[in-house]
Amino acid sequence: MKILSINNIFGGYGGVNILNGISLFVKKSEIVVIIGPNGSGKSTTMKSICGLVDINSGSINFKEEDITNLRTDKIANFKIGYVPQENNIFSSLSVDENLEMGAYNLKKGKNEIRDQAEKIYQIFSPLREKYKQPASSLSGGQRQMVAIGRALMMDPDLLLLDEPTAGLSPKFTDLIFEKVIEINRLGVSILMVEQNAKEALSFADRAYVLVMGRNRFEDTGKNLLRSEEIGKMFLGG
Ligand SMILES: Nc1ncnc2c1ncn2[C@@H]1O[C@H](COP(=O)(O)OP(=O)(O)OP(=O)(O)O)[C@@H](O)[C@H]1O
Ligand SMILES: [Mg+2]
Repeated sequence: MKILSINNIFGGYGGVNILNGISLFVKKSEIVVIIGPNGSGKSTTMKSICGLVDINSGSINFKEEDITNLRTDKIANFKIGYVPQENNIFSSLSVDENLEMGAYNLKKGKNEIRDQAEKIYQIFSPLREKYKQPASSLSGGQRQMVAIGRALMMDPDLLLLDEPTAGLSPKFTDLIFEKVIEINRLGVSILMVEQNAKEALSFADRAYVLVMGRNRFEDTGKNLLRSEEIGKMFLGG
């Protein structure tokens, strides 16, 4: 069953199209990865799902619902968690306050919020002892855990991750990927943009290569890794 489908969308900012006919889908319980050069529209694609881009034609469906040009404040109702590429935490707030912000405007009770935060600390155990510390005092890898944890507070069915390992050391990159796989095993479908393409393709169920606002290639992660053309053009040989 497709949980998300993007159907031939054209859209962008203020009348200029950045997306020129993107089509992709995520099936329930898949990890789907998007790779592509800088400026190819990867982040814009993620934003389009969250109502942050003007979609001029085409449509986006989440489960059975049409969410094309969904208002951003409505996204929480659809159980779509989003971790943007930049500014994805509140630096001056504590770890725990960041998590609580993830449940803001969900009309959840205090107990429910604490139960969900407890689940997040089980996944990201290094955060537990730092719960009172300002997010700004954490390492890059831990900040990324806070950002993902915040998006998980709404108990999403689909998690959108825009370059969750950007700027991280290989050790933290591996850790974040392990956590992404763990979260997926808990039943969350994942759509993830990644620059660490080789590594991400090695565990992705399927992947898309975006070029100039269109998807140029799509296949299983393994097939894309084996492809000479993809290797030469997008994976550094
Ligand atoms: N808010 C905005 N207003 C106008 N143009 C924008 C805006 N955000 C992005 N763009 C333009 O849209 C194009 C695609 O940007 P996007 O951020 O989607 O690329 P990307 O594939 O995520 O790149 P990167 O790998 O650098 O993250 C770029 O030409 C960019 O300059
Ligand atoms: Mg981007």
